[in-house]
Amino acid sequence: MLILGIETSCDETAAAVVENGQTVVSSAVFSSLSQHVKTGGIIPEVAARRQIESIIPVIEGVLKIAKLKIDNLDAISVTYGPGLIGSLLVGVETAKTLSLVWNKPLVPVNHLVAHIYANWIDAKIMPKFAAVALVVSGGHTDFVLMKNHGEIKYLGGTRDDAAGEAFDKTARLLGLPYPGGPAISAAAEKFEILNSKSELNLFPRPMLDSDNLDMSFSGLKTAVLNFIKKQSNNLTIEQLSAEIQEAIVDTLVAKSIKAVEKYKPKSFLLAGVVSANKRLREKITQALKGKAKVFIPDPKYTTDNAAMIASAAYSNYQPVPWQKVIANPSLSIEE
Ligand code: KG4
Ligand code: ZN
Repeated sequence: MLILGIETSCDETAAAVVENGQTVVSSAVFSSLSQHVKTGGIIPEVAARRQIESIIPVIEGVLKIAKLKIDNLDAISVTYGPGLIGSLLVGVETAKTLSLVWNKPLVPVNHLVAHIYANWIDAKIMPKFAAVALVVSGGHTDFVLMKNHGEIKYLGGTRDDAAGEAFDKTARLLGLPYPGGPAISAAAEKFEILNSKSELNLFPRPMLDSDNLDMSFSGLKTAVLNFIKKQSNNLTIEQLSAEIQEAIVDTLVAKSIKAVEKYKPKSFLLAGVVSANKRLREKITQALKGKAKVFIPDPKYTTDNAAMIASAAYSNYQPVPWQKVIANPSLSIEE
């Protein structure tokens, strides 16, 4: 089954053709991120304008690369939320129009759930159920239990800032550029703390003793700010970055261990843009060894892409008449 995926929830305009939810025939992503670096964050109106300019060329591009006739396409899938409303509307309205004009079934896809399906793309071994997934991005940090495709239960997550947001806000305090995650990660890598056991544990890892899967990252920026103000021992940006990264990663890893011990899943699926973080990938793999089979997407499918949208649509194939597909910026992971 060949599904065209369309993704426009934020600053990426993406399209892909995926066969049977797994094999990527063609995939393209245009990102307007470089324009948002100047403003230190995404301006929704700017992102939406770039979406409008890019959507048709990106879709035309993937169909051309796939050497596909429209007749051979079985369905269209599109992210309908969560995300920025202006950006979402571009993908949703395009997909609805194509569904009508090409007479193809239309499958609306939850963006957060789709991130989890990045683990099925090009996979040599398929994840088995039950699975615990951790979706971690700039706007979300959620644990879910997946008993099967389409059976998703929210288990816990951040009560305030998302992990990616914590990277972004603390990076700004250190004078590092947006997005903060890659900047902190690159600076941290230069610091040898990563190869030694001499970490200082400067910053808090809140809620580790709580008996649930909830987390809190909003105190980190205050702790970093206070530390910078008081600092007398002149730690380098690299060391502070390593400390920040360790605090965020340790929290995510500790709660992942808790989730796996409680629900005893066959698979643990890391997902979302922050799953690109090398330190998180290493530490989570190490920590869950022997407890659950750990799946982490190929780095090229951790960022927003449309292959994951088509993959999620294949495994949760529920077409909806195009008239009923409506963008929902505040869609939750369980909907
Ligand atoms: O904006 P966002 O939520 O995109 C979607 O998921 O749609 O995800 C981008 C977030 C930013 O907060 C960024 O700092 C973070 O992901 N991020 C990272 C890394 N790459 C991106 N955080 C840590 N390590 C990375 N390598
Ligand atoms: Zn995303």
